[in-house]
Amino acid sequence: MQKMIGTLLALYEQGGDLVYAGESVTQLMHAWQCGRLAEKSGASAALQLASWLHDVGHLWANFEGTPTLRGQDDAHESIGAHVLLPVFGPAVSEPVRLHVQAKRYLVSTRETYARKLTPDSVRSLQLQGGPMGPQACAAFEEEPFFADAVKLRVWDDLGNKSSWFEDTRHDALDHLMQLMHRVAQERVT
Ligand SMILES: [Fe+2]
Ligand SMILES: [Fe+2]
Repeated sequence: MQKMIGTLLALYEQGGDLVYAGESVTQLMHAWQCGRLAEKSGASAALQLASWLHDVGHLWANFEGTPTLRGQDDAHESIGAHVLLPVFGPAVSEPVRLHVQAKRYLVSTRETYARKLTPDSVRSLQLQGGPMGPQACAAFEEEPFFADAVKLRVWDDLGNKSSWFEDTRHDALDHLMQLMHRVAQERVT
């Protein structure tokens, strides 16, 4: 557990300044903003952590540039969920695994949602299967972590402000470390 927490923290220390795919915000700022939006909404520690780490698959796989511009779906949600499940459990890994599907769901079920997507998100939507049909929407609503995945997705779409980083980098990383310890600890006790 300690080793994985150290590895995850190092990913954000070393790769946190990479530009978040196609947006004017870095990976660390995007992660921090999503985590902070979750915290402000009164989300559980597990959902706050899922929000923080939902795009860790991008850093884990060390993808360079903007994969969707190359017509490539990087499957970062599956990579991230696979990495997070053993340490933090499904309350963290499942919203992460479902956050891309949640976009497909919201495009189909909330009229205004699709209009607010960024250009990169529109590009990746097509690569990820496009809007969900009615049957897929119904099946998605049966997912045990459906509600958390939808909440995370809304924060994901809001967490792209280029100047929104009140904490120092050090404080943000320290907060992430403490949150990881707290969730992992709660899971074993
Ligand atoms: Fe993502
Ligand atoms: Fe994201």
